[in-house]
Amino acid sequence: MTINIKKCTLEDSRKLQEISYETFNETFKHQNSPENMNAYLERAFNLKQLEKELSNVSSQFFFVYFNHEVAGYLKVNTNDAQSEEMGDESLEIERVYIKKKFQKHGLGKHLLNKAMEMAMERSKKKIWLGVWEKNENAIAFYKKMGFVQTGAHSFYMGDEEQIDFIMTKTLI
Ligand SMILES: CC(C)(COP(=O)(O)OP(=O)(O)OC[C@H]1O[C@@H](n2cnc3c(N)ncnc32)[C@H](O)[C@@H]1OP(=O)(O)O)[C@@H](O)C(=O)NCCC(=O)NCCS
Repeated sequence: MTINIKKCTLEDSRKLQEISYETFNETFKHQNSPENMNAYLERAFNLKQLEKELSNVSSQFFFVYFNHEVAGYLKVNTNDAQSEEMGDESLEIERVYIKKKFQKHGLGKHLLNKAMEMAMERSKKKIWLGVWEKNENAIAFYKKMGFVQTGAHSFYMGDEEQIDFIMTKTLI
């Protein structure tokens, strides 16, 4: 078994769109209406939007490969690319998604460690993220990885306002 992490470039936009759709659907389809899912998918993962994000110097995407197959991805933001004003001493994990068939093999941890490494290289003091209050699996994973809840913000899934917990890990 081999696990590799590779930074995405603009040329990866279609591959990124494919895995974004697939993992978002797998994760949230059963708890949200098709209308709200479609509205979100179209807004967040249209090619133009993804290309814009891939071109932002303060955002970085990574694929994780499991035996040469793309198994998941990570998106991190710094500075003003962060989705909340957390300041320049923070790094945001905006997305971490592993395809269902590859979950519980240590890949999510690999991606989180990558984010941690990047934060430390950039002398950041904390890593933070937003996670839907109903996403119990991810919340348990983040707790296991040392994150604690430090706040909440609202988020729109289509026309439905949902609550995201803000979870933070302090780096020393
Ligand atoms: C959350 C997610 C990224 C975790 O990735 P993963 O590859 O399945 O997790 P890992 O195998 O790397 O687990 C790392 C550690 O966390 C633990 N863990 C993982 N999920 C857990 C859970 N639901 N409850 C408790 N512990 C959990 C593992 O046991 C492992 O512990 P260890 O280091 O002692 O062995 C993955 O389940 C996923 O992509 N889910 C769907 C998308 C999603 O919800 N993303 C987050 C959006 S905010």
